[in-house]
Amino acid sequence: MILEVCAVDAYYGLAHILHGLSLQIGDGEVVALLGRNGAGKTTTLRSIVGLAPPRAGEIRYRGVDIAGRPPHQIVRLGVALVPETRGIFSYLTARENLDIARRPGSRWRMETVLEWFPTLRGVLDRKGRFLSGGEQQMLAIARAMLTGPELVLLDEPSQGLAPLVVEAVIGAIRELKRERVSMLLVEQNAEMALQLADRVYVIDHGTIVFEGTPPELRANTQATAAYLGVGA
Ligand SMILES: Nc1ncnc2c1ncn2[C@@H]1O[C@H](COP(=O)(O)OP(=O)(O)OP(=O)(O)O)[C@@H](O)[C@H]1O
Ligand SMILES: [Mg+2]
Repeated sequence: MILEVCAVDAYYGLAHILHGLSLQIGDGEVVALLGRNGAGKTTTLRSIVGLAPPRAGEIRYRGVDIAGRPPHQIVRLGVALVPETRGIFSYLTARENLDIARRPGSRWRMETVLEWFPTLRGVLDRKGRFLSGGEQQMLAIARAMLTGPELVLLDEPSQGLAPLVVEAVIGAIRELKRERVSMLLVEQNAEMALQLADRVYVIDHGTIVFEGTPPELRANTQATAAYLGVGA
C-alpha cells in the first residue's frame, strides 16, 4: 500500500466535513473517488496533503502516519496534488511554469514529460493566461510530475474541458499509469474515471458509501443513481 487513509475526520472551522473516511491505494494503482457536489472529494485530497489536516484518524504513506505534517513536508515525501484550479502562473510561460517545479531528485525529466504531453511542446513559450483549458490542465499535471511524485492526487482533471480534450487528458493519465505512478483521481465525470480506474470509491456526506471495481459500480444501479445521479 502506498496510501492508507484510516477513519479520518476533517473540519473547516466548526463544520465537520469528513466523517471517519477510509480508503487505500496500492502501489501503481489508479483509484477513483467519485461523488456529487459538496460530498467532500476536494477535502479528502486536502487532508491527505496537509491543507485540511485531520482532527482524528491516520494517513499512512508507505506505512508512516503523516497526518498533521505540513504540506511542504508531505510533498517532499513524493505526494503531488493537481488542484481543481490548476494553479498555473498566468504571467509565466508554460516552460517557466515547468522549470520552477523541477527538482534534482525527480525520476522524470522535462523531455520525458513532454513525450507524455506532446501538445505542450508547441506552446512552451506561451504565457499561462493564453493557454486553453486543456493545455492548462496538461501543464498542471506535467508540472506535478516534474516534482518526482510516487502518488499523484488529481482533482477533477476533466472539469470544463470539451470531450476531445478530455480524451487527450485521459491519454496523458494512461501514460502515467503505464509508468506505475499511483493515482487518486477525483471526478464528477464518472465515465472518465471508470475508464481509467482499477478501483472506485464513492463518497457522500464525507464518508465512503461504495467501494468496488468499475464493473461492480456500473452494475450497482442503486449506488450510481443515489450517489452519482446517473443511470438507473
Ligand atoms: N473553506 C471552506 N470552509 C467551509 N466549508 C467548506 C470549505 N470548503 C468546502 N467547504 C464545504 O465542505 C463540504 C465539502 O466540500 P468539498 O469541496 O470537499 O466537496 P467536493 O466533493 O470537492 O465538491 P465539488 O464537486 O463541488 O468540487 C461542502 O459542504 C463545502 O461547502
Ligand atoms: Mg471539489
